[in-house]
Formats: sequence, structure tokens, C-alpha cells
Amino acid sequence: MHKKLFHTFYIIALSIIFSACHHDNISINSAASTDTVVVVKPPVSTPSTPTTPAGGTPAPVSDTVCFNTDILPLYVSYCGSAGCHDATTHKGSVITTDYAHIMNGIRAKNSSNSNYYTIINNGMPPRGNTQMTTTQIALIKKWIDQGALNTQCTNVCDTTSFTYNGAIQTILSNNCGGCHGTMPGSLNVYLGDYASAKAYVSANKVLFLNAINYSSTLTAAQRMPPSAQMVNCKIIQIQKWIQNGYPQ
Ligand code: HEC
Repeated sequence: MHKKLFHTFYIIALSIIFSACHHDNISINSAASTDTVVVVKPPVSTPSTPTTPAGGTPAPVSDTVCFNTDILPLYVSYCGSAGCHDATTHKGSVITTDYAHIMNGIRAKNSSNSNYYTIINNGMPPRGNTQMTTTQIALIKKWIDQGALNTQCTNVCDTTSFTYNGAIQTILSNNCGGCHGTMPGSLNVYLGDYASAKAYVSANKVLFLNAINYSSTLTAAQRMPPSAQMVNCKIIQIQKWIQNGYPQ
């Protein structure tokens, strides 16, 4: 076991040394829970490395799809709403809010035999709910083709990019779209287009920032997205979008 772990890290170290890494390199303090000040430490000189939280597999090259930042948010947002496939309701015994449960319906490198892939926009999400985009579905397929690993990444954002069209639209679509992407949206929070997102956020700035920062001033149910917080660099991008007056 230890030998295998060591071997894995050895390969990762090599691939980091020999591959150009395109990931953003800025490290950040954990996002403040109640205020809106973003603390950005100076860029560190070492290349950014995907980290390995407990149980995760580090992503060895920059083309690797990251489970935690790319795939899990889609399954949480489009399938794992309260009342559907979250851990509490688990309709049809299906849970899509963590890696182990998602793997119940995924066969690595075999997307056509992966139920939790083939059913997307083919019955699920149910008609009337926001459907995934072809880009989102293609990303899930790519992840399955790459082995459906529990890859974990942290520095996945270009935090100098924070316009709506350049970054925020995709973040909101991937992380919030399943629940807030079709009118009226969960709790009447609709974030599905630029004007609506800007209007909602500017009118509810503190609540919005507290929600995405998983602030302890909110109830657990108000922390967004449910089940798993976004990586810090995406929160930073949203905070910069707000601080800079919602550039489109
Ligand atoms: C799986 C479904 C789901 C996803 C994904 C989701 N939300 Fe929500 N959201 C809800 C529900 C349900 C509520 C109502 C929570 C409550 O107060 O009980 C809510 C409430 C909110 C509220 C209002 C909180 C309040 O108390 O008024 C905000 C703001 C919000 N969401 C933002 C977001 C953002 C931003 C994202 C993405 C980063 C997101 N949500 C992702 C389901 C979701």
C-alpha cells in the first residue's frame, strides 16, 4: 500500500516536472465568511500542484478532468437537489452528491454502459427541469473515458478572469444551474442569465456571498451549492465580479 502510494506520487512528481502546467498559480487564504474582502497572497514560485484530499486521486496532467471541480458540481446541481437524489431523499435509491454513490451508476471507460451518464437529458433531469448543456455532458463523458477517477484539484481557475461571459456564466451554470437556472429557481433565486444574476446578486450581496462562502451565520441548508462548497478560486472569481461592478 505504502509502496503503491509512493509510486503514485513519484509519477505525479515526474509529470509535474515534465509537463507544462496551465493551472493558475495564485494561492489564497480561505475565503472570509462574512465580509467581502478578498485576500490574495503573492503567487508562489513552485508550480501549482493538484492536491490529494483524503480518498482523492490527484490529477496528473492539466487535461485531466477534475472530479471535484468539474463533475461533482454537475451531479449535485442537476440531479442532487433536495427532494431528488440528495443523501436525504435518495429517490430510487440513487444518490449523486458524492463520488462513491455516483460510481454506482458509472462504469469507468464505458460511458455507453454507465446508467448515470446515458440517462442524462434522456429522462433525467425530469422534463421541466433545467437540462444539461452538450458541453457539460461531453465533460462527463471525457471524465468517464479517462477512467472516472476521484481526481481532486484546487488551483483550477484563472482568477484574472471574472467577467460574466469569460468566467461567471460557466461557474453559475455548472454549480447552480440545475436549481437556479430555470425560472423561478429554487427559493425564487434565478441566476440563469446576466441581467437576472446581476439583479439578484446586487440586491442580496451579503446573503449571496455568505451562501457561497458557507458562512456559519447561515443555516446549513442556505449554504450554496448544497453538499459541496466550490473551490476557493471560483469564489474569488465571483467576488471579483461583484467588486468590479458585474462586468459583462
Ligand atoms: C441542488 C440544488 C441547488 C444548487 C445546486 C444551488 N442551490 Fe441555491 N438554493 C437551493 C435551495 C433548495 C435553496 C433554499 C434554501 C433554504 O433556505 O432552505 C437555495 C437558496 C439559495 C439562495 C438564497 C438563500 C436564502 O436563504 O435566501 C442563494 C443566494 C442561492 N441559493 C445561491 C446559489 C448559488 C450561488 C449556487 C451555485 C454556486 C446555488 N445556489 C446552487 C438549491 C440549490
